[in-house]
Amino acid sequence: MEKEKKDRGQWASSLGFIMATAGSAIGLGNLWKFPYLAGQNGGGAFVIVYILIVIFVGFTIMLGEITLGRSTGLNALGAYRKLNKKFAWVGGAGILAAFTILGYYNAVGGWVIKYIVQFVTGGVSGDSAVFFGEFISSPIEPIIWALVFALATAFIVWKGISGGIEKYSKVLMPALFVLLIVVVIRSVTLPGAGAGLEYYLKPDFSKLTPAAIVAALGQVFFSLSLGMGCMITYGSYLSKDENIEKDAFIVPLMDTSAALLAGFAILPAVFAFGFEPGVGPSLMFITLPSVFAAMPLGAVFGLLFFILVLFAAITSSISLLEVCTAYFIDEFKWSRTKATVVLACAIFVLTILSSLAMGPMANVLIFGKNFFDLLDFIASNILLPVGGLMMCIFIGYFWGIDNAVAEISQNGKYAFRLKGFWTVLVKYIAPIAVGIVFLNMLGIIKF
Ligand code: PFF
Repeated sequence: MEKEKKDRGQWASSLGFIMATAGSAIGLGNLWKFPYLAGQNGGGAFVIVYILIVIFVGFTIMLGEITLGRSTGLNALGAYRKLNKKFAWVGGAGILAAFTILGYYNAVGGWVIKYIVQFVTGGVSGDSAVFFGEFISSPIEPIIWALVFALATAFIVWKGISGGIEKYSKVLMPALFVLLIVVVIRSVTLPGAGAGLEYYLKPDFSKLTPAAIVAALGQVFFSLSLGMGCMITYGSYLSKDENIEKDAFIVPLMDTSAALLAGFAILPAVFAFGFEPGVGPSLMFITLPSVFAAMPLGAVFGLLFFILVLFAAITSSISLLEVCTAYFIDEFKWSRTKATVVLACAIFVLTILSSLAMGPMANVLIFGKNFFDLLDFIASNILLPVGGLMMCIFIGYFWGIDNAVAEISQNGKYAFRLKGFWTVLVKYIAPIAVGIVFLNMLGIIKF
């Protein structure tokens, strides 16, 4: 029994939980996806919609998931099963999503490490598009860097909740914010930064199409690590003394601040040097290295930037691995060591395949997608929305709002100030919003 408890673990402090949870949320999604989504989809208009969705859907689902986790003290699947056997599959789908996302997240984490090494040795010279293209399409090198990233992730998870995830998040998250602010100051003070600020923030409501709103909702899910049992798992290591209403407010606030700051860090610099902001990986791995190459002291700022990206990525990847690890520790009574090693290895098989999909296996298409894009599609477009939708339905109509409220307020010990607001959101607004987005993603309704 003692050993089991030790393998499961618990957060040592409230701050540690907040840092770890914010660490999970703040990741690659904030740093490269948010800025270009905002720029493309109407600037300030998109930012306003994004923030509204964070408040109405993000906060709601985050609080719901943390509640399920803390109430049961179990992994994603175990938590649902304990409360209602028929919903166990929802937790299972979440664990599968975490497994799948980490498969390709490792590959990108490896690219980030490669760029850090590159900046230590002076930066990317020559054509950065050619450099990136040659690097990711080579068969062996990206896999080696991905392995370094995966080993670092596994090491932290193996060290446990308070001794690993919490300890590292408490250092890496504040460091990330400091580095981000340094890069923001550099970026917005460059001559010509104004054009980037305009691209980023000038509201253009004509670009705010239904498709842009759908993109915002998908982004809120991915960015806040929702719909996959991550918050259930992290919530399961909380003591009953924690005020989780407050946490579900602070974490989205931190995550959104990081996303907004990332826009200020990236877009003004891109425009100041006359580049066009790329879309997707090309913004971070092709456009930005060219920007740093053109900037005075660019190698230093480039290095700082990629270190902060690494910190963001690793505090997210550990949460993905922990979702899977917790399941095997709880359900199969595996030791933490065994669960970490076996799962990290199994996930790395997906990583190898997604890395090869960028080069030697680029022509192997499944449903018209290469392996990397396939993993992303299955997780982000199917498993996450289903997870979020089912969670709302479960809490709203099966487990019941009263049980949830009793857990959140600890039977009245904490005033649950937003109780009425949250109830309406969980039962009606969030599931309808997520349902619409899901049907759109599947192409069943089209905007
Ligand atoms: N929230 C992370 C990001 O924005 O990059 C990605 C992520 C981590 C998604 C953990 C889901 C998760 F459980």
